[in-house]
Amino acid sequence: MSTVKSHRGSVLIAFEGADASGKTTQARRAVEYIKKKGREVVFVREPGGTRVGEKIRQILLDPDLKEMGVRTELFLYMAARAQLAEEVLRGVEGEEKVIVTDRYLLSSVVYQGMAGEIGTAIVSEMGQLAVFGIQPDLTIVLDIDQAEVEKRLKGKKDRMEQKDAEFHDRVRRGYAEAARSAGPDTRLIPAGGEVEETEALIRKEIDRVLG
Ligand code: TYD
Repeated sequence: MSTVKSHRGSVLIAFEGADASGKTTQARRAVEYIKKKGREVVFVREPGGTRVGEKIRQILLDPDLKEMGVRTELFLYMAARAQLAEEVLRGVEGEEKVIVTDRYLLSSVVYQGMAGEIGTAIVSEMGQLAVFGIQPDLTIVLDIDQAEVEKRLKGKKDRMEQKDAEFHDRVRRGYAEAARSAGPDTRLIPAGGEVEETEALIRKEIDRVLG
C-alpha cells in the first residue's frame, strides 16, 4: 500500500460495486479468508471507518435528506474518506497489515463522477488529495445485472438506494466501464451467481496479491 506501487508494507484491498452487488458479504468473507492465511487484517467501510466518518455517513444515508445535491454528496464522501486516510491508512503504511475496505475512491468516481455526472477527472483528482495518493493494491469490482439489482433492492432503502432505477443502472455500467479501462490491479468479478462461486473467484485474486 503506497503512493508508489510496491508490495512491501501494508496491503490495501478495496471492494466495490453497485448497491446490492453483495460486496459487504464478500468483503467480510475475504477478511476471514485473509485471517486464515495468518495475516493481520483491518476492516473498514466507506463512508465511515472513523468516528468522524461514521457521523458523516449518517447524514449521507439519511432518507429524509432528499434535497441533498450531488456536489454536497461528493464533498461529504470525500471528507469521510480523508479522515479514514489520515487516521487509518497512513497509520499502517509501514506495517505488514492487510486493510480491507468496503468501498474506496472508485465509488465516488462512479456514483458522483459518472452516474452523478460531475466528471471522473475532477473526482479522481479530489480523491488523490483526500487519500494522500494512497492506491489500493487490489480493487475487486462486483458485477451484477440490473434485474438482479432491482430484485435485491426491494424493501427498506437508504437515501442513495432510493435513487431511481436509471441512476442505479448508470452506476452498474459505470463500474464495468471503469474496471475495463483500469489497470491490472482492478478486477471485474461476476457476482450474479451463488455467494460461494463469487467468493472462489475473489480468493484467487487475493492469493495473487498476498501469495
Ligand atoms: P454501502 O457500502 O453500499 O452501504 P450499505 O451496503 O451498508 O447500504 O454505501 C453506502 C452508499 O453510499 C451506497 O449507495 C454507495 C454510496 N457511495 C457513493 O455514492 N459515493 C462514495 O464515494 C461512497 C463511498 C459511497
